[in-house]
Amino acid sequence: MLAPHPIDVAREYFQLYPDEVSPLWSDPARDPNMKELWRVNKTLPVFPRVIIAGPQKTGTTAFMTFLNLHPNFETSKPDPVLYEEVQFFSSNLYDNGIDWYASRFPERKNDQTVLFEKSANYFSHHRTPKRVRELLPDVKIIIIMNDPLRRAYSWYQHLKAHNDSLSQQYTFYQIITADDKAPEVLRLAQKRHLYDGIYAVHLARWLLNFPTDQLYLVDGDKLIKDPASVMNDVQKFIGVTPKIDYTTKLQFDAEKGFFCAKTTGCLGSGKGRSYEKMDSASEAYLTEFYKNHNEDLRTLLSSIKHPHPSWLTAMQNSSI
Ligand code: A3P
Repeated sequence: MLAPHPIDVAREYFQLYPDEVSPLWSDPARDPNMKELWRVNKTLPVFPRVIIAGPQKTGTTAFMTFLNLHPNFETSKPDPVLYEEVQFFSSNLYDNGIDWYASRFPERKNDQTVLFEKSANYFSHHRTPKRVRELLPDVKIIIIMNDPLRRAYSWYQHLKAHNDSLSQQYTFYQIITADDKAPEVLRLAQKRHLYDGIYAVHLARWLLNFPTDQLYLVDGDKLIKDPASVMNDVQKFIGVTPKIDYTTKLQFDAEKGFFCAKTTGCLGSGKGRSYEKMDSASEAYLTEFYKNHNEDLRTLLSSIKHPHPSWLTAMQNSSI
């Protein structure tokens, strides 16, 4: 029998191991093999020390805006397409390589400067935790979790506000309850609404790649009600100096219904929107949908001895 052609073997191999089709970038400052690939006369790239990983619609913009009020935090440069996000680890931009990634950040002003980025789709992207670990093994990861019902509904309202055709055509209830017979676009939309809120699955993936002391889990409700205490606490976790007191930086804005920065004001109209309450049928459906997933989250958080967010406890109390 003839030996198989190497091209056929390769094709079969990459079908079996699709994750290996793209490279896994590491830091030339740590990895001698990567250093060899790096051009000798080029200075080594500087990467962020903190990543706000999402998920979407949990208050990620508020968190990054508040972090930016600190004189020693510097976020990535604005992007004409992705605006405040980089999305390097979760998209084809990863193929641009680490030099491109480093170029997305401003130069550090001094030794105290802490570079960070926010990309809200990192949290649920299956390849991202491993890619981040390989390049930034010491990075601190911020994950915000709010009530997944609220998160899903906020996403729907976001689409509606952007005149997305699907959200004009279908109600929230029709999207979230799409079954196997529904058109594919509707099932895809359903996934976009519900998948990120299955927190236990995504968090477990981060925990496989990072020790718990590199993850900072934010209670999304607390970020809304008492952002100053969240921001005061996160400074300790990151180890930034000097520590500033965020009670002097933030104030509640009655008209907006949220805390806003005293100097730069409230977030834009796309964040903290006002819209009608979720209908009771959708609420009942989602409560049932997330019941076991939230139970898994309770178990996972207890296993790492992390306090449960207030919305998770409230949900448990209301179901007793
Ligand atoms: P809504 O606009 O649906 O109320 P993200 O920035 O991740 O897209 O999250 C948007 C959500 O952040 C908003 O959803 C809002 O509930 C929440 N949020 C938390 N703190 C906020 C603040 N200080 N100002 C505005 N929105 C805030």
